[in-house]
Amino acid sequence: MSSHEKFAPGAPPPADFIPLIVPEIRGKEWQYVKECLDTNWVSSVGTYVERFEQMAAERAGTRYAVATVNGTSALHVSLLLAGVERDDEVLISTLTFIAPTNAIRYVGAWPVFIDAEPRYFQIDPKAVVSFLENDCTFRDGELRNKRTGRRVKAILPVHILGHPVDIDPILAVAEKYSLPVIEDATEGLGATYRGKSLGSFGQTGCFSYNGNKIITTGGGGMLVTDDERLAVRARYLTTQAKDDPIEYVHNEVGFNYRLTNVLAAMGCAQMEQLDAFVAAKRSIAERYRRSFSDLPGISVPEEASSVSSTFWMYTILIDEQLAGIDSRSLLRELGKRKIQSRPLWQPMHHSKAHDASGSPACPIADRLHSQALSLPCSVGLSASSQDKVIQSVAELINEKCHAGVSQNRA
Ligand SMILES: Cc1ncc(COP(=O)(O)O)c(C=O)c1O
Repeated sequence: MSSHEKFAPGAPPPADFIPLIVPEIRGKEWQYVKECLDTNWVSSVGTYVERFEQMAAERAGTRYAVATVNGTSALHVSLLLAGVERDDEVLISTLTFIAPTNAIRYVGAWPVFIDAEPRYFQIDPKAVVSFLENDCTFRDGELRNKRTGRRVKAILPVHILGHPVDIDPILAVAEKYSLPVIEDATEGLGATYRGKSLGSFGQTGCFSYNGNKIITTGGGGMLVTDDERLAVRARYLTTQAKDDPIEYVHNEVGFNYRLTNVLAAMGCAQMEQLDAFVAAKRSIAERYRRSFSDLPGISVPEEASSVSSTFWMYTILIDEQLAGIDSRSLLRELGKRKIQSRPLWQPMHHSKAHDASGSPACPIADRLHSQALSLPCSVGLSASSQDKVIQSVAELINEKCHAGVSQNRA
């Protein structure tokens, strides 16, 4: 069976299959959700929504949090709050899941894709600065992309795989040109940069709680901010922009983006376990690091100084020349052993869904995309499953590497 074979909905996967990431439901999820059902508070108003917002704000270290129906809607609203308009441009990591890029198009703006740095795979702050300083003109308080002539209006760094973006240089250049920063901190919940939680650095920070995130509500999201005016406006826009709740008067087009109480209840129970989940992820990462570090051609994920990563998605690089196997062949071989693995997303500058003509070159992201493979790293991954992953990767690398050596000798 291949790792990409589908299971019937509701049917358990085969006992010996090791999925990439599955949720961990072992706290008070049932109790809190049952309370919603028992009391009829199932919809978008309820104490759990408020409680979940308080917990999210506390965790991010921000004054406000507004729960949303998913992470994409939090990003969409953040772009509106930042005043991004039709035909503006927004700088974004090319190495990201597509959702934040799509959100830029939802407001009619255009993404400018920025390359990754090679060490931690995050958006390269030097490339951000270089684009703004060299590829744009600054006149009458406005930045314009020299290639497209469009106005550059915001920066949207995406913290990927559980490791923080080096955000300080991005904040500095954003301040210089008065550009709002919107953080997509979805994959960085529980991670810190200089001791501060991700999501708290930008004008707004966004989170998703979909099924593969470190905590999940099944589907859900959050927008966090320190700015009261933005928080009030986010709440207004996410609840159909209701100006008079009795007479149902609406003066603007709003959105039905509010999270339900049932899902927020699950979120509260999950958030209570976040520290334990982060600890579990870090311990899996440490075990993998010790086991893979000496394998030829394998680079393990690093952690920058003064940050704390969650290693949300444990991702190695495979150098085919040294390992004797490329990342996609390793994916297929692991699949034969019922171990699911996954490459990184197609870099956005290659996506047919988006136009990269206004973007600088992104060679590092291309290399990372060809060499990267994410390995099973569920919070609840058992020691024996970890052993199986470790042993399988080691066997496959050693086998192929030795085959390569003997072929070269022949
Ligand atoms: C970085 C990032 N941003 C946004 C999203 C989208 O969130 P959602 O699926 O909740 O809309 C995801 C994943 O789903 C993601 O990984």
